[in-house]
Amino acid sequence: MAFPLVGFIIATALLAWYILQAKKKNKSKLGNLKEIPGPKGLPFIGNVLQLGKFANDQFTKWSKEYGPIYKVHLGSQMVVIISDPKMSKEIFTHDPAFAGRPKIEGTDVYLEQPGVGMFSSEGDLWETHRRFLLRQLRDFGFGKSSMETLIMDEVNEVLETFKKQEGKPVKNVRVSLRLAIVNALWTILSSQRFKHDDPKLSQLTDSAINTFNDIFENGSLIIFMPWLRYVLPEYSGFNAIRRVVDQFKNFLEGTVKEHKESLQEENLKDFIDVYLAEMKKAKDETSHFYGIKAERQLVATMFDMFIAGSESSATTLSWTIVYLCKFPEVQKKVQQEIEAVTGNERQVSVNDRPNMPYTLALVDEILRHSSLVPDGAQHRAMAEREFQGYRIPENAWIQPNLYWMHHDPKIWGDPENFRPERFLSKDGKKYVKSENMQAFMVGRRVCVGETLARDNIFLFLTNIFQKFDIKFDPSVKEPSLDTIPGFFRSPGDYQVIMKDRLVSK
Ligand code: HEM
Repeated sequence: MAFPLVGFIIATALLAWYILQAKKKNKSKLGNLKEIPGPKGLPFIGNVLQLGKFANDQFTKWSKEYGPIYKVHLGSQMVVIISDPKMSKEIFTHDPAFAGRPKIEGTDVYLEQPGVGMFSSEGDLWETHRRFLLRQLRDFGFGKSSMETLIMDEVNEVLETFKKQEGKPVKNVRVSLRLAIVNALWTILSSQRFKHDDPKLSQLTDSAINTFNDIFENGSLIIFMPWLRYVLPEYSGFNAIRRVVDQFKNFLEGTVKEHKESLQEENLKDFIDVYLAEMKKAKDETSHFYGIKAERQLVATMFDMFIAGSESSATTLSWTIVYLCKFPEVQKKVQQEIEAVTGNERQVSVNDRPNMPYTLALVDEILRHSSLVPDGAQHRAMAEREFQGYRIPENAWIQPNLYWMHHDPKIWGDPENFRPERFLSKDGKKYVKSENMQAFMVGRRVCVGETLARDNIFLFLTNIFQKFDIKFDPSVKEPSLDTIPGFFRSPGDYQVIMKDRLVSK
């Protein structure tokens, strides 16, 4: 008897769901526009089961089948996938309605005040803080030393570590690079710099990495089925996410408290100081810099900078080592350019950039070929809109397939080949930027850390390879250029041997 009853309940629920969808569409003013094409899915769960362990592989198959714009349903969520760089530029740049951000259950730093920080906020709050943050990063000269000096402190500590490991097989280059990247970010935010062997630094790094991994590995279920939070808080990953988010939040709140106690308005040392000074100026309750809400905004922004900025840059540097070992002729070429510009008598500086077209092309080829964030970051349509003759409903998510944009043979010809020359002029003398390379995405929400990330990659890459020849350890299997599944496309494990090439200088 129980079975027909369950069947009846499911059938009724399905019918109700279909009627609701049809009603929603009929109520829309744009209901007569074309439907976006896309694969068929099941009621309630949509296309979730069709995504394998590495969702981007399936998105890419669909990009080839359905073209530059298609839609899928992940649970009840409609996601519009954009697979063409021109379309991506158009949708993410012009209409502010497409600059919203989806809410991902449990990831808000403050459950009591969701939608704060840089990544998750929208509208006026987001615009005001984004302008402020960009101004502070751009003018970063507000501390005692410039951004380049801070990064070079980290580069030099990595060079010292590598020197101690010279000639021996080294497995954990990635760990050294990660510590260095987190430390530079932390110095910009808080003016506290740690030695790379300080346990506080590894604690900070681990918190950032664990939070990130927990959100995207354990949290994947509640991304598309947010109600699981209330039914299965442990199994859905909600509790795991909260544990690491809260731990990191407490650490950041502690640092803000220390800064409040020692703030000297005539001597603002870092980003936290500058923000606290702005809060002091705000007397109007409606200001985004007023009171406890603003303080939470500060903590959440620092949290976002860590989550978005540490693992992304460290993994790109890790790919850099892999590519340059895999292609020793590229390693040679970049070393020749470094020597031509510096005579290897001094270290490379960001001012050398205009004279180093091959290195600039190499950085773009690393970003293109690795396509670190294969599905970019989703935006939310804050209102129903027409786009390219299609109806995009309010609350649809918009997701670029950056991997496919960077690997479409119609755009790149031979996308699988690692060839920095594709970003050079025909005579090989000039670096040529391509609008089809969108590793940091484009438009209104383009990565706020792009300048910092590019400075990091340029300074680490050039100064490491100026000093060292690096090759894979011949006694261990070389990694392939395939990625291990995860939110980021990361290289598999590898082991290298370094040799100081300036030792006789
Ligand atoms: C190789 C390194 C990096 C890559 C590939 C990368 C890529 C991206 C991408 C694809 C987005 C999404 C943009 C959008 O939603 O339209 C993004 C956003 C963001 N990135 Fe990066 N990023 C990198 C490094 C950094 C660094 C170093 C920082 C901070 C210091 C940072 C901070 C942010 C923030 C705060 C956002 C959110 C911006 C917003 O919502 O307005 N990123 N990044």
